[in-house]
Amino acid sequence: MTLTPEQIRTFDTEGMLCIPGFLNETDINALLKRLKELLRDFDYDNHPKLQFGVDDDNHIGDQYFFDSGDKISYFLDTDAIDSDGNLRYPKERAVNKIGHGLHIKDPLFARITFDDKVQGVARDLGYEDPRVLQSMCIFKQPKGENDIERQNAVPSHNDATFLYTEPASALGFWFAIEDCTLQNGCLSYNPGSHKTFPITKRFVKNKGGHGCSFIPVEHEGEVPKDSPEDYKLLECKAGSLVLIHNSVMHKLENNVSDKSRFVYAFHVIEGGAKYDELNWLQVPASGGHNFSKLYESGKTE
Ligand code: FE2
Repeated sequence: MTLTPEQIRTFDTEGMLCIPGFLNETDINALLKRLKELLRDFDYDNHPKLQFGVDDDNHIGDQYFFDSGDKISYFLDTDAIDSDGNLRYPKERAVNKIGHGLHIKDPLFARITFDDKVQGVARDLGYEDPRVLQSMCIFKQPKGENDIERQNAVPSHNDATFLYTEPASALGFWFAIEDCTLQNGCLSYNPGSHKTFPITKRFVKNKGGHGCSFIPVEHEGEVPKDSPEDYKLLECKAGSLVLIHNSVMHKLENNVSDKSRFVYAFHVIEGGAKYDELNWLQVPASGGHNFSKLYESGKTE
């Protein structure tokens, strides 16, 4: 067992579980170094200047995005470019996300992803044939001395909306590479909401191949009120692993500090669950779900 019975109970009750010290010091430092290298090597001049937004009326859907499932692709913060089309921050502080194939393309991220302990977590939570997808570095960029307030909050959502399977099966692995605090944009979540909030919509690739939108999902029962006062703050130290249930409501605030908050995250879905062509993430990008097997260390079919 990798998880204790109490941790399994907490995850089941709350829909989120923080495991402090999951990564050792050596791996934290190696990941941080690699993230900084990726930012340093970002070829901004040849980039399509794609900004990462998933709000109802501001969502991503360019071919560069659709092609990213098995690549190392860069997505900018929604506030990174000013109204004249110029970069508002140095490129290292303009990136929101790098993904979504780090577990395929980069040996360090592959090692962290397919680690025995990660496999143990999935086994302890009952996954029979988990498949890995959507690996990414998520950056909460710090506010520089002369910057305006950074706009990098993520509104309340559940992950099943963006990673839809039938039955719902996604599980988020979210590794804090730096300390996550209230000031630099840590997670907060609505405990137990994975049991009471139905999945009401899903994020799909538009027919014709350009853009994404949300379509309703049939569900039973009323949607409870999603009150900010129900949310629990999840501050955690570098090296923590946070497990995120596909249906738990969670959000992230703006980073109002001068400290960065870097995270590595990926998802698994159950191999036997239905994953259809409406999902934006297809591997290969032309259509398919050739996702890496977690228990066979990255093997695909
Ligand atoms: Fe999320």
